[in-house]
Amino acid sequence: MTRVITFGTFDVFHVGHVNILERAAKYGDELIVGVSSDKLNFSKKNKYPIYSQEDRIKIIQCIKFVKEVFIEESLEEKLNYIRKFKADILVMGDDWEGRFDWVKDECKVVYLPRTPSISTTEIIEVVRSGRK
Ligand code: CTP
Repeated sequence: MTRVITFGTFDVFHVGHVNILERAAKYGDELIVGVSSDKLNFSKKNKYPIYSQEDRIKIIQCIKFVKEVFIEESLEEKLNYIRKFKADILVMGDDWEGRFDWVKDECKVVYLPRTPSISTTEIIEVVRSGRK
């Protein structure tokens, strides 16, 4: 049984999120997703996500490639989450390339290319500006 873990905010859910979850799931038998808490997002970016953590979790739980979802409260806890969920592989988008190499003693780390031309930030900007 190979367990894959990934982390993210997954705010304003979009196809780039589906694609990374779909591809991450293919690396093992079970995909576990850490959804970053509202507080963690505020501490990282000085702003809260548009969707609450409860709603973001609910959306991720409905994805058919996802086995289990939990709230990621702190970036420093990555290793503990990896241990707690007995993950064999950590998958992240390549915007994080190299940033999680420090967990390589605990599990394999894979960075996957992002889906081009879509991000939560850009969707929010387009909607706010009224641009098409
Ligand atoms: N992701 C992806 N392709 C995209 C957007 C996101 O593969 N076009 C991946 C990220 O690399 C990450 C996961 O989806 O592993 C969650 O990313 P998140 O930061 O929540 O989404 P973004 O759209 O990148 O959000 P933001 O613009 O706020 O950074």
